[in-house]
Amino acid sequence: MNKRFYIETYGCQMNEYDSEILAGILLEHDYILSDSPENADVILLNTCSVRDHAEQKIHSRLGELKHFKDKNPALKLGVVGCMAQNMKKDLLESKPYVNLILGPDSYRNILRHLDSDQTQTIDTRLSKFEVYDGLFPARKEGINAWISIMRGCNKFCSYCIVPYTRGRERSRSIAGIVDEAQRSVDKGFVEITLLGQNVNSYDHDGKRFPALLEALTAVKGIKRIRYTSPHPQDVDETLMKVHAGYKPLIANHIHLPLQAGSDAVLKAMNRTYTQSHYLKLTDMIRKYVPDMGITTDIIVGFPGETDADFRETLRVMNSVKYDSAFTFKYSPRPYTKAWDMEDNVSENEKAARLTELIRLQKKHTLENYRNLIGKDVEILVEAPSKRDPNEFKGRTACNKITVFPAGVYRPKDLVKRTVTDAQGITLFSRP
Ligand code: SAH
Ligand code: SF4
Ligand code: F3S
Repeated sequence: MNKRFYIETYGCQMNEYDSEILAGILLEHDYILSDSPENADVILLNTCSVRDHAEQKIHSRLGELKHFKDKNPALKLGVVGCMAQNMKKDLLESKPYVNLILGPDSYRNILRHLDSDQTQTIDTRLSKFEVYDGLFPARKEGINAWISIMRGCNKFCSYCIVPYTRGRERSRSIAGIVDEAQRSVDKGFVEITLLGQNVNSYDHDGKRFPALLEALTAVKGIKRIRYTSPHPQDVDETLMKVHAGYKPLIANHIHLPLQAGSDAVLKAMNRTYTQSHYLKLTDMIRKYVPDMGITTDIIVGFPGETDADFRETLRVMNSVKYDSAFTFKYSPRPYTKAWDMEDNVSENEKAARLTELIRLQKKHTLENYRNLIGKDVEILVEAPSKRDPNEFKGRTACNKITVFPAGVYRPKDLVKRTVTDAQGITLFSRP
């Protein structure tokens, strides 16, 4: 008889992709997907460790799921992903009802572990080679297919746990990636987003990221190519020339994490660039692709960040004028270099800096969106808008949500419209 499995995914898009890989393996072997934990034979939580809060969420979710285990002792409860890798046996000791701990490089072994008679299993060996080539992820139908092109991170930013949970960088072959892209498009996806912890550190036998992007433009029927997240250190003119040469098939959007604006903090973070390098880079990007939408990640309250340091972050924001920013309060993580530094910016101060930063970002977002009024944009039509059933929504190549009256186009159409208004984070447009 078929067994039912249920997966819940936390954290970044890499985890979304990995859950699709896991689902792909299970669906090939007598398992069927369940959309709720009720009555499932296997429950998997694909977890994140990037901030303490992410782990706390999993602890409380596991507490909630325990009663399924009480009702059905045969149920297998698995924790996979970064927190599994981070906590290993500590998690089994504190949560004895958890059966399986599987790190991000061990997913090929899942069937063997689920079949085993052991009540508790740990498999968290990191691999130098695993890229899950040859496995086809089970994706939900839709517009965009995520494709992981490299795994791991060698950068060791001093605040970040990812190099410890994901291991070292390794890349898939161009041929394997192009094949997965073509198969996704043949299945009805029209957009692909390339994924990697440092997507542009891609290196397979000396073939680098710009060459991969260029190869993907030949995929038949593909309407849009995106990628995330690049590291500023590996963004160069070659990449921008490919962007400019294949616009808008290669979407004019780049997510370029800044993290901090002050040189002292950047150095302590081991980010490998200075403020002036970063600003030269964004100038170079806009020289090649003037309408590039630039978004970012920023951390406030890194150990030792003074108010003057924080002002430097605002300075970079005022200079680059990001379309949007993911903003975080620094959270100390085990194993990292910063773990040994005193977390000496108070919670109040972190909160105040975050509020100021978010306020400034909102202003820039609205300015940038308003600057598009009167401009023509290319929109990939997605689905009916949640707010208003009479409206459809789509995304511009520069990655902004746009709404327009329903019934004009169908999902997956690529259409040209002129922006007429901007409110909050939504654009309005006419044909
Ligand atoms: N590899 C990606 C980011 C991965 S983590 C990159 O380098 O761009 C996503 C974001 O979480 C990071 O960009 C950073 O802004 C934030 N982050 C990572 N570790 C953090 C920590 N210890 N505290 C707060 N934010 C953190
Ligand atoms: Fe973390 Fe830095 Fe690697 Fe990104 S580049 S995953 S922030 S260590
Ligand atoms: Fe979280 Fe792991 Fe992604 S720590 S952000 S799920 S790589």
